[in-house]
Amino acid sequence: MLRVIAIDGPAASGKSSTAGLVAERLGWAHLDSGALYRALTLAALDNLGEEAWPAQQIVDLAERLPVRLVLVDNRFRPEVAGADVEQAIRGDRVTRSVSMMAAIPEVRTWVNAQQRRAVEGVKARGGSRGVVVDGRDIGTVVFPEAPLKIFLTATADERARRRLSQRGQTVDGELVRRESQALAARDAADSNRPIAPLKPAPDAVLLDTTALTLEQQVARVVELARGRFPG
Ligand code: DC
Repeated sequence: MLRVIAIDGPAASGKSSTAGLVAERLGWAHLDSGALYRALTLAALDNLGEEAWPAQQIVDLAERLPVRLVLVDNRFRPEVAGADVEQAIRGDRVTRSVSMMAAIPEVRTWVNAQQRRAVEGVKARGGSRGVVVDGRDIGTVVFPEAPLKIFLTATADERARRRLSQRGQTVDGELVRRESQALAARDAADSNRPIAPLKPAPDAVLLDTTALTLEQQVARVVELARGRFPG
């Protein structure tokens, strides 16, 4: 049985925080697939400029630099040319362009292969450890055979509030409105793209976290995981 928990959902729905804590409690590894799209975006912005990115050039660049995921203390960290880019990929410059990167079919094929390889690597080390993978298409495209698939949702306003407080900004009405609109625009781009759009797998467990604390949503997923992955 594939030891993967797929956690999908829109931007700022708490996927990565949830996935990281679930992995920690289960003693599993955590893979944030968005980090790979972000690392590719950073690499393209730095090496190919801001203009149109030919798909093959991106994939060649990714192989050459390389852009990759490295397992450190149970967490896959994004690297570009041997440097950890976990912080660098979170800035506005990357965030503004990442949907464009994620809409390129050849890029998705490359990213999906990296994810499958990462999971194979964990399996090859033996033991009962699995991988909690979070993203937009993990349950639908990358690991459709994952025994547990979660689709997290929350209203755009609530997600905007969480994002602002995470950044240490004041959660004021006007800022929430603007952040909420930006999130909704990114959700629309991710949901309406022709390839691997953001949507729940038919057998995903839907979890609306609008009124849940992080601790509550983590506890719920861990409980489901213990039922699905005995031993
Ligand atoms: O989760 P995030 O904000 O770091 O994701 C960055 C972008 O990558 C987001 O716009 C959607 C895209 N993405 C995707 O298309 N498929 C995934 N599995 C993960 C992220």
